[in-house]
Amino acid sequence: MLRRASTARNFPVLEKVAGGRRNAERGQDKRAIGVVLLEWSLMVAGYYILYLSVNGIVTMMDPVKKDRGAGVQTKEALGKKADRSEIARLDLSPYERIIANEVLDAEQLEGGFDTIGGLEQQKREIFELAVLPLKRPDLFNKRGKLLGSPKGILFYGAPGTGKTMLAKAIARESGAAFINLRMSTLTNKYFGESNKLVSAVFSLANKLAPTIIFIDEIESFLRVRGRGDDAPWISLKAEFMTLWDGILTESAVPIMVLGASNRPYDLDPAILRRLPRQFEIPLPDPKQRAEILRLLLKEEHVDYESVKLGALAAETEGYSGSDLKELCRAAVMMPVRDVMYLPAGGSLTALDVDGLQAEHLRQVTMEDLRNAMKRVKPTGHAAQDYERRESAHAEHTAHISPAFMNTALSLLLQSLVQGHVPQVPGAAHGQAGGDGRSNGRSV
Ligand SMILES: Nc1ncnc2c1ncn2[C@@H]1O[C@H](COP(=O)(O)OP(=O)(O)OP(=O)(O)O)[C@@H](O)[C@H]1O
Ligand SMILES: [Mg+2]
Repeated sequence: MLRRASTARNFPVLEKVAGGRRNAERGQDKRAIGVVLLEWSLMVAGYYILYLSVNGIVTMMDPVKKDRGAGVQTKEALGKKADRSEIARLDLSPYERIIANEVLDAEQLEGGFDTIGGLEQQKREIFELAVLPLKRPDLFNKRGKLLGSPKGILFYGAPGTGKTMLAKAIARESGAAFINLRMSTLTNKYFGESNKLVSAVFSLANKLAPTIIFIDEIESFLRVRGRGDDAPWISLKAEFMTLWDGILTESAVPIMVLGASNRPYDLDPAILRRLPRQFEIPLPDPKQRAEILRLLLKEEHVDYESVKLGALAAETEGYSGSDLKELCRAAVMMPVRDVMYLPAGGSLTALDVDGLQAEHLRQVTMEDLRNAMKRVKPTGHAAQDYERRESAHAEHTAHISPAFMNTALSLLLQSLVQGHVPQVPGAAHGQAGGDGRSNGRSV
């Protein structure tokens, strides 16, 4: 080695060759390090892209992502909504936050029992049965197990009779949180998500207790189970019933399911058992109609010299509370119409709507209310009239029976094959139907 070094020193050419070799080796080392670094960076970038893609896919497939976004805001607003500050501090799961969107604002609960006209008997019973135990669960639970609120109440009756109003009034009077449960909130296209949402309904109700879970048109969700029901729907209902049973046994938790229905006979008997207290909310009688009219017109500009609510109530047989509201709405529009009356050929845009002042409007008179009655008929009347007209029309045009059509078609085919037009039996006399046989005679 020593000899080789001294030899190289003695021979400058050799020394040059050795130096070049060293340089080449150094260059190779640098290149190798560069390759390793490049491989490492490519690997890190690959992992990062993989992470981003997986994360993106997972986020894309997260079925509650969108709703959760809305839920975050709700959590802050929830305490204010339910008018109970402690709720804002609750820890809610993503699913509970989605259901929290369905909690009605205290303001959305409108008036209490005194804004509901008539239904005195129902209001009294409901107050004792639902409002008091929700308001003072402590008081009721101390005195045995029977003295508590029922876990389910059903309001049934004609449309527009005040069922939803009653449910809201219970929440308002008792201070309970009101979950207005819509089926569209529970139905999620992702497998298993609906069941998680159903379970969130009850867990949220538990956290917000006292709580009312209100299901309007309950028969559309919990109707008699039929063969047409698909598996996820059956599983959703089963989950709902099981959780409901859970609150039935937990008598100390003030949670109540309130259902409202126009078609109680369509309800599953198993559901009816869980709604042990059922109240019929009928169409108002004349006395109740007078009371509803009084409440509806309370803040309106009415000429009580001419308006006699008793007489009007007697004339509005068959009107529901909601029909009476529409009637009053139509009547209070009449003074507005008077001011905005368009002369023949006048244009709508030429009207001085901005210049119109409330004090320019005259009072509502009995004549306005009677005119409004001509426009607003009791619910279903217009539909029934239409149905009557339609069936009369159908009877009139029902001269062509299926048997007659069969005969006509077969004869038409025959004529196409034979090249002549045969006579349809009975057609000559304008009769409906036929015996299905051809007499074979041509016209
Ligand atoms: N008894 C009542 N007193 C005062 N207003 C009433 C009464 N019943 C109905 N109304 C009026 O009719 C409106 C509709 O009532 P509500 O929604 O409670 O009817 P409903 O029985 O729930 O009808 P549906 O069966 O169609 O859901 C109310 O907002 C209210 O203005
Ligand atoms: Mg309703």
